[in-house]
Amino acid sequence: MPISPRHPLLTSLVNTLRDITLSPLVFRHTIHEITKLLAYEGLRDVGLSPIRINTWRGEDTFEYIDESSMMVISVLRAALPMHEALIETLPGAVSGFLGMRRDEQTYRSVLYYDRVGDCTGKTVIIVDPMVATGGSLCDAIEIVKRKGAEKVITLNIIASPEGIDAVEKAYPDVTIVIAQIDAKLNENKFIIPGLGDAGDRAFNTL
Ligand code: PRP
Repeated sequence: MPISPRHPLLTSLVNTLRDITLSPLVFRHTIHEITKLLAYEGLRDVGLSPIRINTWRGEDTFEYIDESSMMVISVLRAALPMHEALIETLPGAVSGFLGMRRDEQTYRSVLYYDRVGDCTGKTVIIVDPMVATGGSLCDAIEIVKRKGAEKVITLNIIASPEGIDAVEKAYPDVTIVIAQIDAKLNENKFIIPGLGDAGDRAFNTL
């Protein structure tokens, strides 16, 4: 089952994104806020390691997330604001990028750029705001698994029921954290009500 936290703050922030008059700056800022809330849920079971530090009372040991074992992978372009927000929270994480676009004839995702390093032993967090057919997210999961990911978590903002189903069926071991599951996909495989093209809206591309 995907983790879809029910929280008024999350609902309100996601619905803020639906207003088409939102400026790209506020659109990206709202995505930042949502991403931090999703990370809070998605990282609940991540382990902590003891580290000895100097405190005001001398040396002592406290527990921390081992950020160097975490990888943040974004599916370009729409995921970039999510990526930025997450590496603010996990500044020691390793980054990776996958360029994917949807073939508008077949609706299949096409990989055009792969800048993801070795994932062996890493907890990989894949961010992408939209899960429509689920094709892009499935392809991204497959790539990081092939590169050795030990655990995969995805943080997504809006999905269609079909898209989430497809990802869950193909990768039942992946933790999917999703802010909002919308009503459906339309005949052009756009999420309804959705947001429109999140990449265009975040960066004001034409
Ligand atoms: C969007 C979105 C996902 C993908 C979802 O990207 O960010 O990556 O579509 O669709 P799917 O679940 O059917 O694969 P898009 O292709 O619009 O590229 P962009 O981020 O460059 O706008």
